[in-house]
Amino acid sequence: MTSTVHSVEAGGTAVADWITLDDLDRDPFPIYARLRRESPVAFVPVAGRYFVTRYDDVHTVDHDPDTFTANEAGSLMKRSMGHSMLRKDDPEHAVQRASYGGVLKPKAIKQLWNQRFEENFERFFAEFVARGPGACLVRDFAAPYAAENLRVVMGFDNATHEDMLRWSQTLINGTGNYADDPSVWALAETSYSEVNDALDEMITRFRREPDGSLISHIVNSGAPEVTLEDTRANLKMSIGGGINEPRDALTTTVWALLERPEQLAAVREQGRWKDAFEESVRWVAPIGMYPRQTTREVELGGITLPAGAKLGVVALSANRDETVFENPDEFDVFRPKKPHLGFGGGAHFCAGAWVARAQVADIALPRLFERLPDLRLDPQQPPEIGGWVFRGMTSLPVHW
Ligand code: HEM
Repeated sequence: MTSTVHSVEAGGTAVADWITLDDLDRDPFPIYARLRRESPVAFVPVAGRYFVTRYDDVHTVDHDPDTFTANEAGSLMKRSMGHSMLRKDDPEHAVQRASYGGVLKPKAIKQLWNQRFEENFERFFAEFVARGPGACLVRDFAAPYAAENLRVVMGFDNATHEDMLRWSQTLINGTGNYADDPSVWALAETSYSEVNDALDEMITRFRREPDGSLISHIVNSGAPEVTLEDTRANLKMSIGGGINEPRDALTTTVWALLERPEQLAAVREQGRWKDAFEESVRWVAPIGMYPRQTTREVELGGITLPAGAKLGVVALSANRDETVFENPDEFDVFRPKKPHLGFGGGAHFCAGAWVARAQVADIALPRLFERLPDLRLDPQQPPEIGGWVFRGMTSLPVHW
């Protein structure tokens, strides 16, 4: 990190060859601050992508799919999960997204899911407390809670939250398998078949007895242009995206508040759990980077990108852009409200944002702090946070 500013200039392109994967994983924020300052769109050799790090440029990319396609060539996500809506552009993408109907939206959350999330909270909270002080809020509460919530919403009545966790992690590992490790592919392929089998079974059941779940909605809403293969891919992508992110948003928020007793006291008193959640997703975007690819030569952030350039859209960085957010590195529940990019933007804006807010901000956060008024970090086991493609707490041992 102390080498030359950046080795420039293969055809006017900044090459940030000083960046290492270890540094990104440990603490990407100083790296991103430097990129925003010196070369806001730069080729990063260790990632094989041009990083887009400023808020305005990320906004441009998110809203111009004709130039910045989500349908990346050679996508590992397609290999691991199939070709989901997340790797399609409109109008094809819109057809796929419409197949989810209102299942993840506020009305269904109010009528169906909140009650299930509350029951799930009680179940996993009881298991967590039974472990006693020193238990890890990530492993022993947030992960199973988020997995079970997603299982219920999707309608995998023939699976357990452990299945969901295994599917999610192995499919995600496939999307990140840049090293082409055969053992990673083998596990992803096993999950791929297991999800297909579980889905086939649920499709047959829901044709007979529909309910409000996602699978039931998709199979009974009669959209012939959405094939079984499409649904398989969309659901795998949603399993990959619907567990780790609420888990991480929940535990990052708890960590931030435990480290800032004054803000915690104010949030408790004023019930501002939604603000705490939203600020946490801005402060540490759980999906730190997502891919796009240029369809033509284009100017962005002061450089000319060739056609076919692979981009890393860096939400972790855009959300800390000092031209948009004052003191961006501070977690501040009371900062003036401005739209952050933690849920993405444009056509692919997170379809599960309401579900995440409901389970984390409306249910888990207030209940956790109410039930455990003396919740605090474990002095013997410091918390750990890591990652840059996905970023979140890897361990959060607590006492109460
Ligand atoms: C705090 C929690 C969450 C965060 C921060 C988050 C973040 C994101 C982001 C950044 C994207 C866009 C990625 C891109 O453009 O390439 C996205 C898409 C998506 N998310 Fe989430 N997500 C969260 C929770 C969830 C949950 C709980 C679900 C499922 C219930 C979900 C389902 C989806 C789906 C289906 C898409 C694809 C939308 C599309 O392609 O139109 N997400 N999410």
